[in-house]
Parts: sequence; C-alpha cells; structure tokens
Amino acid sequence: MEMKAITQCWGPSGREGKISELIKSEAEKYADEVYTDALGNLIAHKKGSEKKIMLAAHMDEIGVVVTYIDENGFLRFSNIGGVYIKRLLNRRVEFANGVIGVIDTESDNKEMKLSKMFIDIGASTKAEAESKVSVGDMAVFVGDYIETDSVIISKALDNRIGCAALLEVMERASGDNDVYFCFTAQEEVGLRGAKAVAYSVAPEYALAVDVTDTGDTPSADKMAVKLGGGAAVKVMDRSVICNADVRSLLIELAKRDGIPYQLEVMTDGGTDAGAIHTSRDGVKTGGVSIPTRYIHSPSEMASKADYNAAVKLLTAFCEYKF
Ligand code: CO
Ligand code: ZN
Repeated sequence: MEMKAITQCWGPSGREGKISELIKSEAEKYADEVYTDALGNLIAHKKGSEKKIMLAAHMDEIGVVVTYIDENGFLRFSNIGGVYIKRLLNRRVEFANGVIGVIDTESDNKEMKLSKMFIDIGASTKAEAESKVSVGDMAVFVGDYIETDSVIISKALDNRIGCAALLEVMERASGDNDVYFCFTAQEEVGLRGAKAVAYSVAPEYALAVDVTDTGDTPSADKMAVKLGGGAAVKVMDRSVICNADVRSLLIELAKRDGIPYQLEVMTDGGTDAGAIHTSRDGVKTGGVSIPTRYIHSPSEMASKADYNAAVKLLTAFCEYKF
C-alpha cells in the first residue's frame, strides 16, 4: 500500500468507512479472512495453530464536527479527538464530500477559543452553506504528503503509518501463530473500537502499534525518544503499563535481528493498548511505536528508517515461537 494513499485517505473517528475499504482491499491479498464489526473495526485474520496474537493500529484520525451554521454561511464546530485549539488559525479542513473550509476566529485579539472560532467554506448565505454541509458533518485537517530521503510528512501519520506497518507485516509474516491484524475505530475519542475488538478476538498476546512523541526538537518536552532512533518499544503511556515479558521479548528480538530500537515512556496520551490489556481477564500487552514529531498537527513527521525497523520488529514478534 502506498503510504501517500493511506495517509491522505479521509477518516475521522466514527467515520472510518473510506479508510476501512482502502485497507480491506489490501488486506484481502494476505489474510485468510477479513471482516468488520458493528463499531467499524476492520479485522484481518491470518490463521495459525499456535498462540493467538492481536496487533492493533487505529485507523481513525482527529478532526472537527459542525455544530451550527449561521445566517452568513459560517460554520461553528467542535473537536473530534485531541485537537490543539491554539494552533487552528487558518488551517484548512476537508469534509467527506470534498468541500474545503478555512478556520478563523471572530475575536479581535485572535483569542484562540473554540467558541469564538468558525469555518469559512466560501458560502455567503446559510442556504448556500447548507447545500454543501450539514450540522453533524465531520471534516479532517488538510496536510499534503511529502517524502524526503529520510522522512515522511503528512496529516494523519497518527496512525495511518501504523496501519501501513500492519499491512506490511501481514504480507511478510510467516509461522504458525494465529494472528489478528486489527484496524481499530474511534481511538482518538477514547480507545473505543479497541475495547470491542479485544473482547471479540480474546488474544493471548497483544501489541498496539501507534505513533509516539519525540523529545528531539527545540519545542519538545524532555523525552528519550528521537526521530531516526529506531522502533520505539513501549514501556508505558497514560493508558497502560506494558507487560514486562512482552517488553523484554521485543527487546530480545530487536537485539537478535539487529533492529534499531529505543525505549518509550510517553507521559501524555494513551493508545489502544490501554483498552486491550484490561479486556476480559487481562491480556499480556505491549506496544511498538513509530516516533513522530508534531503529532496531531497537519504536518506530522516520521522517519522511514524507524518505520522499517518497526515493521521488522513486529514481523519477528508474529513469527516468534512462544
Ligand atoms: Co492520535
Ligand atoms: Zn494514534
């Protein structure tokens, strides 16, 4: 799957239909069965007789939702997931039908409060606006795909880069484990899809595959993870303390195969691992993350080498004889 297609695809939380279809078209080439559940999770199963393993990558992205349309055709909106309100000025958003809007604020001093902000879709009346969008319609941030020798820049690398990794692992991994590749819905609004799919799959081992923050720019908080430092083996985030055996195994496999890795302690935010590890009577859960700068902005940046390292490490985990 082309990274450009998967990152640029439209799919905010709860509206994962398009991205699910795109991933499904690729997953069907490698999995024994591909199906969806009532929440919109997409599950690709590669059958095996040994351990039941779940890999989870969320396919939803953050966005906005229209709450009100005023007399002059301007849209008021709320956030879907963790939107940095102070950085929204003059950002572009795109609705499912391709309508593009620009975010601005009514406030004189450019005070950045959601209640003062609006989306301008170029309509001059309420009727004109309503012919294009409705209350309840969602939009995602516009952020073009750019690739250099070393990095990828795009909107929604969180977490389409994780989805791309799962597809690549699905293609490569052999062995006898029974592996469920789960492309989850509604992570950005509270790990909702993963909760249902962890229950239905009931895995013995699970890994959440997502992006993680880095500490390597002038704007970043102190953190050991850096771009280009390898796949990040999650120790913990705000939603999970990873199973020690799973963490140790990932490190052992990285060392065995010469895969660059680094340890991740993310002090802000959670991942699907949070919902999975407390499912049923508990699941041994870890995480492999792809270090990403400027998370939840339209210009997220990740390293191609880190991505490749994560694919190798995840493949080794899926093939491991427990
Ligand atoms: Co996110
Ligand atoms: Zn994410």
